[in-house]
Amino acid sequence: MNKLAVIYHSAHGHTEHIAHHIVEGASSIAGANATLLRAEDLTRTPDALTAYDGFILGSPIYLGGVSGAFKSFMDATGRLWRHQALKGKVAAGFTVSSLPAGDKQSTLMSMFVFSMQHGMLWVGNPFLPEQHQGVPYDDAVNRLGSWSGLMAQAGHGSPADAFAPGDTKTARLFGQHVATTVTRLSAQPAS
Ligand SMILES: Cc1cc2nc3c(=O)[nH]c(=O)nc-3n(C[C@H](O)[C@H](O)[C@H](O)COP(=O)(O)O)c2cc1C
Repeated sequence: MNKLAVIYHSAHGHTEHIAHHIVEGASSIAGANATLLRAEDLTRTPDALTAYDGFILGSPIYLGGVSGAFKSFMDATGRLWRHQALKGKVAAGFTVSSLPAGDKQSTLMSMFVFSMQHGMLWVGNPFLPEQHQGVPYDDAVNRLGSWSGLMAQAGHGSPADAFAPGDTKTARLFGQHVATTVTRLSAQPAS
């Protein structure tokens, strides 16, 4: 079994809601086992990361970057970085905003740079926006048009599950894609 961890921080449930859909998608792939982990818990036990083959990192956007709780988790991996203990593992990222743009890209970029510093292999969100094929915007996979990672958006103060169906559909496909990548890589002979 290839082990995938979806690591997230969520103060009001939106990021957690998307994380659940990602895990659901990842778990549908034969040979993959996906687990939800809270960033706050891993901040205390970062060595637990070495048991996984891949990670999907998720944070709400706070002032154009990851939340403080998520950054604390990232910083807690400093010792793992010194030993490059996560080198060669798979990494991907997702972020949730309340505004249509909301500076989501810079949040994904901080996750990307973090993953590169750890020597991990970044996986994107390779889905064409379905609204180009005539699917109604709210129902469209990758309606927000993000390839470097998964983006999702729910209005300010909305319930935690108030996402457009397209965003939750994208989350499941994204989970499937990362899990498929992890299982494909693990089938390769080690170099
Ligand atoms: C301190 C703070 C800063 C925020 N900054 C942004 C921002 O820069 N752009 C944005 O679109 N939303 C911003 N938001 C809104 C959150 O990203 C959004 O509500 C998100 O869904 C919260 O996720 P959660 O429910 O998982 O905690 C901010 C929220 C807080 C509390």
